[in-house]
Amino acid sequence: MYALKDKVAVVTGAGSGIGRALAQLLAAKGCRLALADVNEIGLRETAATLPSPALLQRLDVADRAAVFAFAERVQRELGTAHAVINNAGVAVSQTVADLSYDDFEWLMNINFWGVVHGTKAFLPMLQAQNDGVIVNVSSVFGIIAVPTQGAYNAAKFAVRGFTEALRHELAGSGVKAICVHPGGIKTNIAAAARFYVDPDGVSDHRKAAAHFAKMARTTPEQAAQTIVDGIEHNRERVLIGGDAKLIDLIQRLMPVNYWKPMQALMKRMGQ
Ligand SMILES: NC(=O)c1ccc[n+]([C@@H]2O[C@H](COP(=O)([O-])OP(=O)(O)OC[C@H]3O[C@@H](n4cnc5c(N)ncnc54)[C@H](O)[C@@H]3O)[C@@H](O)[C@H]2O)c1
Repeated sequence: MYALKDKVAVVTGAGSGIGRALAQLLAAKGCRLALADVNEIGLRETAATLPSPALLQRLDVADRAAVFAFAERVQRELGTAHAVINNAGVAVSQTVADLSYDDFEWLMNINFWGVVHGTKAFLPMLQAQNDGVIVNVSSVFGIIAVPTQGAYNAAKFAVRGFTEALRHELAGSGVKAICVHPGGIKTNIAAAARFYVDPDGVSDHRKAAAHFAKMARTTPEQAAQTIVDGIEHNRERVLIGGDAKLIDLIQRLMPVNYWKPMQALMKRMGQ
């Protein structure tokens, strides 16, 4: 059992959704918090819900130098980090044929490179004390690929590969790497997406976001609880929600032809 009390925990994307719920739960566990988000207003809203002050940093995780400066600030002001949760993320919904390089690079810079920067900036201090955990948030879309999610799939599969390689490298040491695969979580992610079209051909963003809200069954608080359980119980792979467990199973049973049954399942869940 990994004890979180009095440990320094870092959460990116802490201004909304899963990141906010993680901040609240980790504060309740007695962690000293360093919270970052590109959205300063959301970050302050999160901080206002916490029982004690946290280190707050406006941060674009795509900015490598800024992420390394953040890690230095955390060490200077709070001491060496123990739990680093690379959670910040965005979505793009567009077919590969029509996906612009601008949208693709925007997403990869946050969802993939943001995770790499967060890992590489904090890993040396975790390894120096031979204690800690890097938690990288992938998705069920790092397990299955979905039409119109080519950019998001590319980033989330990459996060999974990167994190699993790191996990193997760290085996036998006091530092762990956990890859997290949430299913649908009721957050702002779909509403905040760069949206063009969804897998059903819907191009009305409001309609698609409402469909996502129906389909996403897990609350951010439940997601945070599952992630923190994973840290405390030294799990290496964390699936969040019954939908994620089912998707993982379908992918293993039908590694090539999973999309048809998945599409039917997603349609039913959205009704
Ligand atoms: N909601 C879901 O169904 C779901 C499913 C699978 C995976 N995820 C992943 O969970 C993570 C959290 O997403 P969420 O659902 O809580 O969404 P959210 O939109 O509620 O929160 C994401 C947060 O990340 C922040 N952010 C965006 N770009 C940033 C940047 N460049 N630098 C720093 N912060 C930035 C946003 O301001 C926001 O506060 C993401 O990585 C997402 O891909 C979510």
